[in-house]
Amino acid sequence: MSQTVDLSLATRASDPDAVPGLIKDINNLHSSLKEGDEETRHKLAIKARSLLQSLLTPREQMLQHTWADPGLDAAIITGVDVGLWKLMVKNGVDTPQKVEDLAKSVGMDPVLLGRLLRHVCAMGHLEEVAQDEYKLTNFAKSLSLDVIGDGYVALLGGIGRSPIEFFKFLRETKWQNPIDAAHTAMHASYNTDLPNCFEYLRSIGMGPQTNHHMGGYRQGRLPWMHPTVYPVEKTLFADADTSPDATLVVDVAGGLGHDINEFKKYYPNHPGKLILQDLPVVIADVKGLDTSIQLMPHDFLAEQPIKGARAYFMHSILHDWPDDVCIKILSRLADAMKPGYSKLLIFECVIPRTGAYWEATAGDILMMTQLSALERTEDHWRQLIEGSGLKLKITKFWSSGQSDIENLIECELA
Ligand SMILES: C[S@@+](CC[C@H](N)C(=O)[O-])C[C@H]1O[C@@H](n2cnc3c(N)ncnc32)[C@H](O)[C@@H]1O
Repeated sequence: MSQTVDLSLATRASDPDAVPGLIKDINNLHSSLKEGDEETRHKLAIKARSLLQSLLTPREQMLQHTWADPGLDAAIITGVDVGLWKLMVKNGVDTPQKVEDLAKSVGMDPVLLGRLLRHVCAMGHLEEVAQDEYKLTNFAKSLSLDVIGDGYVALLGGIGRSPIEFFKFLRETKWQNPIDAAHTAMHASYNTDLPNCFEYLRSIGMGPQTNHHMGGYRQGRLPWMHPTVYPVEKTLFADADTSPDATLVVDVAGGLGHDINEFKKYYPNHPGKLILQDLPVVIADVKGLDTSIQLMPHDFLAEQPIKGARAYFMHSILHDWPDDVCIKILSRLADAMKPGYSKLLIFECVIPRTGAYWEATAGDILMMTQLSALERTEDHWRQLIEGSGLKLKITKFWSSGQSDIENLIECELA
């Protein structure tokens, strides 16, 4: 017999029976939480989210998703765009600030700004001091940082329509798993023929904001060269060629060079050369790196010019592409690798078979809706790297242990 739900379900707390157990779990986790224990903090945050969801009614959750969150995004993006968050921080991180004064400084109608900030406050991201007067929370302070604030501008202001209108794209493509990099929901939503969302964002003047977001989402994650993730001295330095021309690491499509610069800071006395590669337009924007790092414009679909490096490293690259493009990228690298010496190091999400973490599943949907790409499971990585005729083998998945968001997938020539 087919079932239905009664409308009254929408206005009752979603799971009141779960509340006592969740409060107990939260207390237990909180009592064992120590400074820097990210694993426990993650678990606690997930329990706290479950508690909130148990208490909210389905109607309230629907309003949060469809009214409150988009409204908050509208206020945050506008604030970044007019320099509001930077101004508020400049005025004083703990200083009460009046809407009227702020509106004058950023050239906004005070009525408009008052309405936006009232919602930001109602959502818990500003502290109300008096009517139309607020203090910054830590979250609101962080919006003044380009690596935090610019993500809202690029991902929501620039290409935010793609996930919202994904269902229309799926109607057109008859609900098939998207695997065509040249025909994505982003192409359909923005009616563009540009090759991908990176090019599209650049074309609308949001290249710098996109690069800042790349630097932002990685914050707080352990870098690949951290000794608890990958024992670089043992795996790369031992037996490395120490001649002046030898290359230690090529960071392929390394963006503005966050990873390679961090490597230099961790291991200032490394053997060999460090090379940063990316498209010419990105390399032209690189600044502030250690001067010993060589900058090299390079398209990863073309022949790899650096042969026989100790390691070819890629971070958050293959998740941008469906398998057919990944195979082309990987084959260029395999062709350049020296048997028995070169390693291919892929720093990416490895989604477990069950119990996937929300950052990984969110990344997967982001890749799917913007790029027809994906975050991969261990099985999928094995099939891509070892089952595509690439002459590569995976030697080990090195886990960062941080809710398994990113692993270093170490490969060699088979
Ligand atoms: C998601 S970002 C990752 C950047 C960097 N590895 C990081 O983790 O911050 C993807 C990078 O791929 C670069 N890219 C895209 N297409 C490329 C191509 N054909 N050749 C080389 N780099 C490319 C982009 O410019 C961008 O810097």
